[in-house]
Amino acid sequence: MKLVNGKFKRSMSNAIGRWAAVGPYYAMFPLEFAFDIVNEYSEPGQLVLDPFAGRASSVFAAATQDRIGLGIEINPLGWVYAQTKLQTASQRNVEKRLKSLIEMSEACVQEPMELPEFFRMCYSEKVLNFLITARKELKWKSRKVDRTLMGLLLIHLHGKLGEGLSNQMRQTKAMGPKYSMDWWRKENLITPPEIPIKEFLLGKIRRRYSKGIPIVTEQSKVKLGDSTQILPKIAKMVDCGRQQPCSLLFTSPPYQGVTNYHDDQWLRLWMLRGDPKPGYGVNKYRDKFSSKEVYHELLESVFKNVSKIMSEDGTVYVRTSARKFTFDTTIEILEQYFPSWKREIKEKPFPQKTQTHLFGDSAKKPGEKDIILTKK
Ligand SMILES: C[S@@+](CC[C@H](N)C(=O)[O-])C[C@H]1O[C@@H](n2cnc3c(N)ncnc32)[C@H](O)[C@@H]1O
Repeated sequence: MKLVNGKFKRSMSNAIGRWAAVGPYYAMFPLEFAFDIVNEYSEPGQLVLDPFAGRASSVFAAATQDRIGLGIEINPLGWVYAQTKLQTASQRNVEKRLKSLIEMSEACVQEPMELPEFFRMCYSEKVLNFLITARKELKWKSRKVDRTLMGLLLIHLHGKLGEGLSNQMRQTKAMGPKYSMDWWRKENLITPPEIPIKEFLLGKIRRRYSKGIPIVTEQSKVKLGDSTQILPKIAKMVDCGRQQPCSLLFTSPPYQGVTNYHDDQWLRLWMLRGDPKPGYGVNKYRDKFSSKEVYHELLESVFKNVSKIMSEDGTVYVRTSARKFTFDTTIEILEQYFPSWKREIKEKPFPQKTQTHLFGDSAKKPGEKDIILTKK
């Protein structure tokens, strides 16, 4: 990242710019936007909170700009990406671990029999054997080196032919197994590519580390879990002085009825020991929020707890959808818990092709709105 005329521009000539894009997710903040908001609405040393962190662009921007970034994310994929860039293991250890995994997978053929046919159309035998070994061996929840390697591997788990480990696929989102197989058959892509695993992954790792690793504030992190459970604990810590209050709440909640962040990433979640099919860990907060009641309950719980954590002179910055139900619910709940705060709304129509347009959906999208609250 580079400051140009007071605005951030992504630059690949420094470590922050190289790591900021870890990794492909959905409905992500534009990277430069995350840095601009952190810079404009908070000061060094202050706490920036994101209870719907996703791949943690907000937290990463805060952590690299001398703020303390604290996030919460329920999706293990978003969490692995977040911690990969917030607590990055050394290149030497990551390469060493990769080589030992490759040796392990070459020495022992894993049993892919129970996996659906999809997997053998998506990956060559050698690649699949390596993936099954990595899935079994990498302790991504507890070990930094394993998590960093897993984070980098997940980025390249699928993508265009030759750019990922898979048969032809989108990089940002895994299509369903049946859809993928029908498509490969139709396009005569039934034989998956033989990717030279070691050269391919070492090349990707070396490129990522080529400008070093980002320097982040030590306390910055993302917690894996449900904000409705974790925020009350943070509120208690703020109350008894063990945690500083939040100066900037900078977040984007899921939009009601739009995206299932788990199904869209079912293949990467399989690598994180989920099931070999969409439908990860069914839970009311792991779906598309088709229930308006559940959606309301989520936002109410989160903003209520956030109101207990905010500092007197803080700012609340929420990016949400312009869709009626999502927007009205967000405003209603924010006004309930921040009654005397001044409100500003910025319209953010989608300027160019969105991620859904890229997937062939050409319907006009309602765009987004930013809600900014400050104490009067
Ligand atoms: C709009 S996305 C945020 C994307 C993020 N701004 C980024 O740049 O990657 C909303 C996120 O909220 C997460 N989420 C939904 N319910 C949650 C909950 N109860 N606790 C924590 N995270 C939750 C979803 O998994 C999703 O990653």
